[in-house]
Amino acid sequence: MKLLYTKIWNLAKPFYKKGRPMDIDHIQWMMKMVKIVCKKEGLDEEILMPLAILHDVGYAILLDPVNTNYYKKDVRKAHMKTGEEIAKKILASVNYPKDKSKRIIKYVGIHDNWAFGEVEIYINDRILGTFKDLDYLWIYTKKGFDAIKKVLHKNEAEMFKQLKDEVSPIYGKKPFSTSLTRTLREIYLQERKIEYNLLE
Ligand SMILES: [Fe+2]
Ligand SMILES: [Fe+2]
Repeated sequence: MKLLYTKIWNLAKPFYKKGRPMDIDHIQWMMKMVKIVCKKEGLDEEILMPLAILHDVGYAILLDPVNTNYYKKDVRKAHMKTGEEIAKKILASVNYPKDKSKRIIKYVGIHDNWAFGEVEIYINDRILGTFKDLDYLWIYTKKGFDAIKKVLHKNEAEMFKQLKDEVSPIYGKKPFSTSLTRTLREIYLQERKIEYNLLE
C-alpha cells in the first residue's frame, strides 16, 4: 500500500504545483501526521492517506493562485468539485480498491462543507473528523502559520490570538476527533508562542 500512496502523491503533485503556493508543504505535513494518527487511533489509513494527499488538488484550477482569496465560498466549492474529478482519475489510474476509492472521492467533494454550515458530518464520522482536525491544525505549524498569516493579512500576534481563541476546529463548533489531534493543538500553540516571543 505504501507504494500506492507514493504513486498517488506523484500524480497529485503536478496539480499542487499549479495551485496554492503552500500546498506541497501542507500535504507533506498531512501525510506525516496521517501515519501517526492512524497508528495511534486505529483509523483506516487506506482511506485517510489518499484523502489527505488528494483533498486540495482542485486548487489547480485557480487562475491566480497567489492572490486568490481561498476563503471565498465559490472558490471553496470549485476546489472541492474539481478535486473530486481529479481524485477519481488518479485513484482509477493506480487501480485503487473501488470501494475505498468511492469513499475517498466522496470525502474530497465535501471536505470543506463546514463552510456551508455542515458540521455534523465531521462529528459523526471519525475519519472525516480526524481529517478535518489535521487540515485545520496545519495552520498551527510553523509553515502553515506563516503562509496563512499572509493570506489573512495578519501580524504574528494577531494570527496567534486567532488560533488561541479557536478552541477547536470549525470556529469552535466541532470537538477534536482524537486525543492526539487535541494534544497537537496545545503543542503547536506553545511552539508558536515561543517562536514569536508572544509570552504573556
Ligand atoms: Fe480544501
Ligand atoms: Fe487542506
